[in-house]
Amino acid sequence: MDKIVIRGGKPLSGRIPISGAKNAALTLMPCALLTDEPLTLRNLPRLADIDTFGHLLNNHGVSTTIEGTSPDEFGRVMTIRANRITSTVAPFDIVRKIRASFLVLGPLLARAGEATVWLPGGDAIGGRPIDLHLEALKALGASIDVAAGYIKATAKGGLGGGRYRFPMVSVGATENAVMAAVLARGASCLENAAREPEIIDLCKCLVAMGARIDGVGTDTLRIEGVRDLHGATYTVMPDRIEAGSYACAAAITGGKVELVGAEAADLGATIAALRAAGVEVTATPEGLAVASGDALSGIDLETAPYPGLATDMQAQLMAMLTLAKGSSRVTETIFENRFRHVPELVRMGADITVSGRSVLVNGVAALRGASVVATDLRASMSLVLAGLAASGETTVSRVYHLDRGYERLEEKLSAVGADIERHSDD
Ligand code: EPZ
Repeated sequence: MDKIVIRGGKPLSGRIPISGAKNAALTLMPCALLTDEPLTLRNLPRLADIDTFGHLLNNHGVSTTIEGTSPDEFGRVMTIRANRITSTVAPFDIVRKIRASFLVLGPLLARAGEATVWLPGGDAIGGRPIDLHLEALKALGASIDVAAGYIKATAKGGLGGGRYRFPMVSVGATENAVMAAVLARGASCLENAAREPEIIDLCKCLVAMGARIDGVGTDTLRIEGVRDLHGATYTVMPDRIEAGSYACAAAITGGKVELVGAEAADLGATIAALRAAGVEVTATPEGLAVASGDALSGIDLETAPYPGLATDMQAQLMAMLTLAKGSSRVTETIFENRFRHVPELVRMGADITVSGRSVLVNGVAALRGASVVATDLRASMSLVLAGLAASGETTVSRVYHLDRGYERLEEKLSAVGADIERHSDD
């Protein structure tokens, strides 16, 4: 297992290219299951999760061809073609590696009339049930059998479409329902749907493939099912969480970076939080410039579905606030177990107390390097951020978490002056 070793205390300065969004890519790839024509995705990030999802699609008989971009370039072009679906089963050994595998359920059901998907189970950040995915698909006409360890969904004669109001906002359940509804025989209406930019990206790609969707960007999606979808070429949106993470890197190191390709419109709540803490954020012709102000100040934050503050930014902003003047309260409302970075940050000298779904961060003057353990993707990034600001050496182990969501992290950070290396543990 690899480790990341950081010798902190160097202000970052320069340009950081922002990659395609992992969480958009993971819902755009299964769209290819909805047509027998090729779907070409541009700007796909080179990440472990994308490779795993590609293997899952191959397992369904779908071909995935990567165009020859040079290894020095960020991003890739992948053409995915599902001219025949040879298996409608998403096996456990792939689903357990990546929860987003569950996003083949809606498209397989819509295209092939059946899907068997092993249950992903809980993970480090919470129990992560799938009831809303199943209820939404039932409302569109699916029959669902939940057996030991897997679910089998069927729609004999195809899905009919229908109305469903999500009792709480779910990104994944909205994605599954949208992908199923676009090929249903009738009209569908999804209320209290997630409005995350990744959902907008999904809808735009489906529209490019011939889907009829109204209300894109709102919480009510009206979908008129069509008989067939066709192929398309679509460019994955920039990763707003990667951009937000590197904005925190500039802020915590007292540096100044330009996030090339970042989309300010997708980062509203993150930019507001950074500015409230004293960080300067300005739009540039190529993206966003982020500069640490005179000193960071403590702020109160609460995560919420979009357009609220993304739960995927909570850990990174918390790392930044460990060095702010005064105290901050950070409340997590989306996942019940998303503070696993806290004990590790405390080992680096942070003053943080957890109380239920909130933490109190009392800013300290400095962090010190330590050996810390990554527990999930965003928690890992918060430890990297703390390491960039800490005195001495920080070693972050279980780096595979980072490889799931940050394309060539060490390379991007070294290029702006960080002292960061990957060590192989052999
Ligand atoms: C997506 O997960 C993202 N993953 C997550 O990013 C992100 O944290 C999350 O949305 C919230 O923004 C991908 O896009 C691949 P949800 P998802 O369904 O879709 C509850 C990262 O670090 N819920 O919106 O699984 C659930 O337990 C990852 O990149 C149900 O109760 O999240 C949670 O409390 C981690 N029943 C809330 O809804 C359900 O059927 C929101 O989860 C589904 C969800």
